[in-house]
Amino acid sequence: MSKQIVVSGIRATGELHIGNYFGAMRNFVELQDEFNCFFFIADYHSLTTEENAEALKTFLLPIVKNYLAVGLDPAKCTLFAQSSVPEVAELALLLSMVHPKNELEGLPTWKEKEISQATGGKIVSAGLFFYPILMAADILIQKATVVPVGKDQLPHLEFTRDIARRFNNRYGQTFPVCGAHGGIGIKVPGLNGTGKMGKSEGNTIDLVETPESVAKKLSVAVTDTNRKRRQDPGDPRACNIFALHELISPPTTVEEIRAGCQAATIGCVDCKRILGGNINKLLAPFQERYRQISDDLARQVLIDGGNRARKTARQTVDEVRDKMGLPSFKIG
Ligand code: TRP
Repeated sequence: MSKQIVVSGIRATGELHIGNYFGAMRNFVELQDEFNCFFFIADYHSLTTEENAEALKTFLLPIVKNYLAVGLDPAKCTLFAQSSVPEVAELALLLSMVHPKNELEGLPTWKEKEISQATGGKIVSAGLFFYPILMAADILIQKATVVPVGKDQLPHLEFTRDIARRFNNRYGQTFPVCGAHGGIGIKVPGLNGTGKMGKSEGNTIDLVETPESVAKKLSVAVTDTNRKRRQDPGDPRACNIFALHELISPPTTVEEIRAGCQAATIGCVDCKRILGGNINKLLAPFQERYRQISDDLARQVLIDGGNRARKTARQTVDEVRDKMGLPSFKIG
């Protein structure tokens, strides 16, 4: 039996952080052993919100290096930039012909983004509206059956399934109807006490963060806000720092911290210091590998991955063109 196909896109802006690590990256590394995985940096998608071409250029290689350092192996998975497979844009156009416009308008992700772009004084591009169709094309172009995404992306996945069904109904069985991958989506709290760790919230610990910077960020991080003085007992369940301990520290430490916080035998300063040490332990081997990966290597990985992804993508687009009644496309 041939392996199941996995596709997932990585947002292309900014440094990656421990929220990305526990939320997605770690999971990708496991998936590559079991499935035929295509992971890509969604740079076309970035253009829906990123206007600065120079900034966008600087993001690409560090993201690749982060993923390689975390353990993605180009011999086991296909890692590439979305824009090196322009066939995906063609498939998105073709898929847009089978989907009703008003269903795109109803997507919650569109509504949120539309509002945030508009309130930020930015244009709400047609490309932003088109985002879910392009994402469906990313998935369907490789005929993926498994798509590891966070909860926030589930409406897009449902949309993809819908587009696949509509296409299959109209033109005959072509696309598998993909499912989400359940192993993903561990929510990592941000340092400022509000919700999830995320770069736009500015509450992250990055994977390339130095020990000094980890200590500095933790020193101002929010803990249980009801614990005003050192001698007050704390509530670990209401504390971000404790939630990070649970993810990062060994179980015995977690239990000591829980008991110490509740009995006020340990203060927030010490609790943070212990967490900082464990974060550094987690990041050190990663950072060592990161330093050893050159820009040239990262570029080569993208070139090879792009070529591989493009081959299968072209086959799908040719099949779709034929099914939709367009002539076959051959140069020369
Ligand atoms: N929209 C996804 C996100 O914001 C990124 C993405 C683009 C993606 N294309 C995809 C994820 C295809 C999975 C499959 O995280």
